[in-house]
Amino acid sequence: MITEISLQNMPDANQQLWAIFQAFDDLLFILDSDGTILDFKAGSMTNLYTSPDKFMLRRIQDVMPADVGAKIEDVLSRHRAGSRVTFFEYSLKSQIGKRWFESRLVTLTNGQLIMLVRDISRHKTSEETIMRQFGQLAALRSIDLAITSESDLQPVLSTILDHVRVQLNVDAACILLFDPQTQLLEFAADAGFTTQALQYTRLQVGEEYAGKAVLERSVLYIDNLISHPAAFQRSPFLMQEGFIAYYAVPLIARGQPVGVLEIFHRSRLEADRDWQNYMETLAGQAAIAIDNAMLFKHLQRSNAELVLAYDKVIEGWSRALDLRNKETEEHSRRVTELTVRLAERMGIGRTELTHIHRGAMLHDIGKVAIPDSILLKPGPLTDEEWTIMRRHPLIAVELLAPIEHLAPALDIPRSHHEKWNGEGYPDRLAGKDIPLAARIFAVVDVFDALTSNRPYRPGWPMEKAIQYIKEQIGIHFDPHVVPVFIDMMSGQA
Ligand code: C2E
Ligand code: SIN
Ligand code: SIN
Ligand code: FE
Ligand code: FE
Repeated sequence: MITEISLQNMPDANQQLWAIFQAFDDLLFILDSDGTILDFKAGSMTNLYTSPDKFMLRRIQDVMPADVGAKIEDVLSRHRAGSRVTFFEYSLKSQIGKRWFESRLVTLTNGQLIMLVRDISRHKTSEETIMRQFGQLAALRSIDLAITSESDLQPVLSTILDHVRVQLNVDAACILLFDPQTQLLEFAADAGFTTQALQYTRLQVGEEYAGKAVLERSVLYIDNLISHPAAFQRSPFLMQEGFIAYYAVPLIARGQPVGVLEIFHRSRLEADRDWQNYMETLAGQAAIAIDNAMLFKHLQRSNAELVLAYDKVIEGWSRALDLRNKETEEHSRRVTELTVRLAERMGIGRTELTHIHRGAMLHDIGKVAIPDSILLKPGPLTDEEWTIMRRHPLIAVELLAPIEHLAPALDIPRSHHEKWNGEGYPDRLAGKDIPLAARIFAVVDVFDALTSNRPYRPGWPMEKAIQYIKEQIGIHFDPHVVPVFIDMMSGQA
């Protein structure tokens, strides 16, 4: 065994080379041209493996595993044919797992060879880890995309199960969803099964391994299903699948169980910490996807409920206002109905009609801030009283603006007192700068006001009101709206 720098049997020219090799912690063999080991220098790494002592005077090809031996034989023949320096990589199984080596072979002037062996496991492993982590990241990214772009749960679960199989390198997987109403775990998606084994799964919490994992909120692992023949009462087909290893991973979102991920493999699983971490990450993604889908479903439902609730509130406000202004009782309901009909005649679409309906119901909501002394005054208003009265459109906007749901309905409350000639209030808009909904509404509002009794005057007959509205074309009212209104009213008279 070579322990120091000086070697009697080495040519002088190589002494310096030896000195350099000595400085490194690598394993080093001196071989003859057939591969027979003449001497070696053991670096510290040989402590990890078997001692090369017993290799002395044997051919290195013969002491290595067959595949590595063949590789070395091939390299040696290249050296016999004239190569001076070559290098190659190989891996060996040792007690501490798979190790990677890089060997350099150098032909010396006397025909002997130096084989320098370096353990490159760290480098190789981190390269493999990086590649694996890269794959995992890409998988997580595509799951994220699926979660955010799909409103349906099914395709997201399929994507997740595909990644479970590829990234965790397992044969099959499935997801059961927890229904909080029935408290049951039910089949949702699977991948990699040859039978329909699990498609009818319905488990109680606590039942079978999947139910137990959810109950105990911890990962459950069976290394050999063969020794648990009663494990899957739920399906007689499951045993035909030939599974050996099994994992049940509870899916928990915001502290609540949403399902369970089951993993099946047809041979034993070598699951290191990295594998388990990634399994838990994928399970976390699945839980988020399920939670999102449930929230979305719930949100859709409660949104519809909210809209209904809003419309009830709007109706209530509007009735309360009419009641306060005793003589305009039913005014809001009446003008709303006429406005929607007129808007329909003007070709306005369904969505906009909904907003017009709400806007008309609420058009005078700002009058809640007008004192009774002004609102119910039996005679004409003073300038000061008019200033207050004219605030009601902007008061309406102030009241309603915080309600996001009513934002598209604000045109009428804000602009129903604008005039076509620009002399209305509160913004002194003219012509088509006035929102169409408000231009339509204004005609109906004035018509209804004129034909109703007011504290300051009795109601006008319909003909007088129609006459007045015609006179106001191009002054107060949009010339395109009035004829449609008149046509509508004459049809009804
Ligand atoms: P309102 O009584 O519902 O009237 C709505 C709109 O219909 C009025 O907006 C006006 O454009 C038209 N209108 C109503 N009554 C008459 C009328 O006798 N003659 C004519 N030419 N048009 C009429 P306006 O003028 O901006 O008034 C807004 C609100 O101010 C009215 O709603 C009412 O609550 C109040 N108001 C208006 N004039 C008087 C008044 O003389 N006395 C009192 N107490 N309140 C008044
Ligand atoms: C009303 O519609 O009752 C009053 C008219 C208005 O000022 O909006
Ligand atoms: C419009 O405002 O777009 C045309 C309809 C109208 O002026 O009445
Ligand atoms: Fe008004
Ligand atoms: Fe009104």
